[in-house]
Amino acid sequence: MPHVSRLNVKKLTFSAVLIISWTLGLTTSSAQAVPPLPKGEMTLRELADARGLLIGGAVAAGVLDPDEPDLANGVAREYNVIVTENAMKWVPLNNASGQFNFTLAEFMMNFAAKNKQKMRGHTLVWHEQLPRYMGAITDRAEMMAELKDHVQTVVKQFKGRIPIWDVVNEAVSDLPGSPMRETVFTKVIGPEFIEMAFRWAHEADPDAKLFYNDYNTDGINGKSDAVYELVKGLLAKGVPIHGVGFQAHVDINFSVEGSRMRENLERFKKLGLDVQLTEVDVIFRGDAPKAEKLERQAKVYADLMTACLAVKCSAFVMWGFTDLYSWRSTAYPLLFDDDYKPKPAYFALRDVLIKTPK
Ligand code: G3I
Repeated sequence: MPHVSRLNVKKLTFSAVLIISWTLGLTTSSAQAVPPLPKGEMTLRELADARGLLIGGAVAAGVLDPDEPDLANGVAREYNVIVTENAMKWVPLNNASGQFNFTLAEFMMNFAAKNKQKMRGHTLVWHEQLPRYMGAITDRAEMMAELKDHVQTVVKQFKGRIPIWDVVNEAVSDLPGSPMRETVFTKVIGPEFIEMAFRWAHEADPDAKLFYNDYNTDGINGKSDAVYELVKGLLAKGVPIHGVGFQAHVDINFSVEGSRMRENLERFKKLGLDVQLTEVDVIFRGDAPKAEKLERQAKVYADLMTACLAVKCSAFVMWGFTDLYSWRSTAYPLLFDDDYKPKPAYFALRDVLIKTPK
């Protein structure tokens, strides 16, 4: 498929692209492969390995297709950890109560195993991608039973194979005062659903590191204050929580310094928790002047990595690999462009990893 038509179909799902190509009798050719690095230069993965850092990204199962080798090759070369973008959410795994389907998730596990990558589990309990049957439950004991079954069945399935889980995702709201988000879980069970989920996950795999994960909590603000109080309260009750994930979905105007991000990460570390950046992407809109925007994007990526390393974070995970496949694909969010060419942000991250003392 020529380059232009490839871009035109960017917003179609990958399976739709395959069907159209097959119907028209076209063979699916891949985009230009990730170009090799000059001899002696290290990849992000090699640089991260050398300092014991996890570096990686979210990958959608559908695009790890044999007809899309550039994505698979790029992800294998540059990342030592992957996350399934959707395949481990409640709907894909357990869309009809108790009838679990691990096919896609296991496909991703195989990919990770083949490439000697770790898997970051995302996500056990979230108000989105939740099946209809969960929304219909009004009885507290029944919902607790469903929650326990889901959390424990999923964690046991991957016991010893998934070392890190986002147990609860986005439970704090964006409303003024950052109260708990009102969801089926808070309505039917109450806020205790959070500690229940952590305890049940821990029972299912005592070795897994269990995380709370949220967005717009990267710097010091009302929402990160609320998350701080939440996890402090959980620790005080002896709930098995081991870390906090900061999604870092930001744009090129985000200031790591101005938002006091390092200070924010540090206060969570001081609670004895691990911290990870879990869904990094840095967007910009419009196209001109693109070079200048790409440089600003590179600076934000570099600043995020610097803050992460400064607090000895254990992972820097991006929400994808190439701009071609991203939930924000029209806003140039990632390290590789539509043609799998590394952007200035890629080199900026490498630079920080090279220059920051271990
Ligand atoms: O799989 C179904 C498919 O069967 C159906 O035909 C199709 C019709 O729309 O939908 C498909 O599911 C979509 C899924 O992505 C897989 O493509 C969902 O509708 C769509 O809502 C879902 O969007 C994902 C979103 O989370 C909601 O789950 C995005 O890809 C994913 O990037 C995004 O990721 C979230 C993190 O999990 C949490 N933090 C924020 C981040 C960005 O929103």
